[in-house]
Amino acid sequence: MKRADLQAIVASGFGDRGAARYVFVRARAGSTPEEVRAELAARALPHVVSIESNKPHAFAQLAFGPGGLRAIGLDDEELDTFPREFVQGMAHPERARVNGDRVDEWHLGRGGLDVLIAVFAGSDGAALALERAMLDGARHLERACEPLVASRLPDQTEHFGFRDGVSQPSILGVHGDPRGPERPVPTGEFVMGYENVYGQLPAAPSLSPARGVGLPESRVSPGRRDLGDGGAYLVLRKLEQDVFAWRAWLREASRPLAGYVADPEAYLGAKVVGRWASGAPLVTCPRADDPAHATKNDFDYDLDLSGLACPRGAHIRRTNPRGALPPSPPRSRAAVETRRLVRRGRPYGPPAGDAPDGEARGLVFVCLCANLARQFEFVQQTWVEGVKFDGGWSEDDPLVGARRAGADRFTIPRDPVRYAPRGLPRFVTARGGGYFFLPGMDRLRWLLGARG
Ligand code: HEM
Repeated sequence: MKRADLQAIVASGFGDRGAARYVFVRARAGSTPEEVRAELAARALPHVVSIESNKPHAFAQLAFGPGGLRAIGLDDEELDTFPREFVQGMAHPERARVNGDRVDEWHLGRGGLDVLIAVFAGSDGAALALERAMLDGARHLERACEPLVASRLPDQTEHFGFRDGVSQPSILGVHGDPRGPERPVPTGEFVMGYENVYGQLPAAPSLSPARGVGLPESRVSPGRRDLGDGGAYLVLRKLEQDVFAWRAWLREASRPLAGYVADPEAYLGAKVVGRWASGAPLVTCPRADDPAHATKNDFDYDLDLSGLACPRGAHIRRTNPRGALPPSPPRSRAAVETRRLVRRGRPYGPPAGDAPDGEARGLVFVCLCANLARQFEFVQQTWVEGVKFDGGWSEDDPLVGARRAGADRFTIPRDPVRYAPRGLPRFVTARGGGYFFLPGMDRLRWLLGARG
């Protein structure tokens, strides 16, 4: 595999770089595609790193929404070779219906997002300095809105206090050793130009031979030139978290458990997530948190099909059911392999103190996949928002669900008592986002340079 052709975020979330800024950029009115390409090539491209690059203190990753591709000169016929979900964009009513979004509640991307420059650095100052070096004084590029600035929370936690980013797929050819007993996921589940779980090359965008001069022939669209190799789709969602509603609910809803479990709040929170605050999975630590299991990921639900340890509706069991779904664990694992996501998100906003402070905080949810509909949208629609997931009824994801149409309960089977609180508040509200094309390095250079 050509590792130097993949932007580095495919392989890593850059955990060693504590600072990140998600900068949304657009072309200035009146700028031509040549001017926009030249400026992106001169100002941003030199900072974009691949998996193989030595990473400087601060660097960038570059991705395009449909408007960004138009701004660098792609025409409608070429955009139509991208998937419909991408071309419509996350704010389109059809996509909003699928994802369960209310776009009237959004602050970001209601009119689409054109170009994403994600900056990662060892310090906040260095991240800001790189953003400014790329954009201050630019003649053809401008910031479309305020950047989303990632925050620093202790021990890789998100704002509700749970360790995040524990479970990730190992990608064949990208990661060395599989992390756990799971087999590595075929590269084409995340990167175009490689075989996916069906042994096929993923659909990929293309250009006519006349327009795609210098590009190799497409292997999925005969007679056309390839734009997809080494590329992926990047989903970005600004998910606001109401930490005080979450804490208040935990306090109230855990009261009936007093006397049955040692720490009712910690227990209820763990049942919702599927892991304890440290990250330890309920399947391996059913009774109490054990930080020694904090990064444990080699577990499955076959010995817990009824959800006595990890409830069937818990967040991590919905978003990666592993062997839990009918008709059998092996069939479940095979089906679930077609729905994997590589998560690269980070929290934004200040850590929550003891008292409500009116600050906005949440998760910049970022994930990568090669097929937006089959992977991200399916997980979001059918597993996160699905009110009948795995035999459930009137339940959505208890942690992140939108609580639509009366879906406001959560069932913990008997362990030691059955408990099914109702009236769950909405803890997470989508505030916007977009679908982006994250080109491979060769295609990125071509897009920004070699077009006549
Ligand atoms: C503010 C919103 C969210 C929060 C606070 C959150 C939090 C968490 C936490 C604490 C974990 C467990 C740690 C880990 O395994 O990495 C987790 C896992 C996961 N989440 Fe979320 N999450 C959010 C939104 C979402 C959304 C919208 C999706 C998908 C559409 C998603 C997909 C996943 C997946 C795939 C896993 C890994 C499950 C596994 O492989 O076992 N999350 N999340």
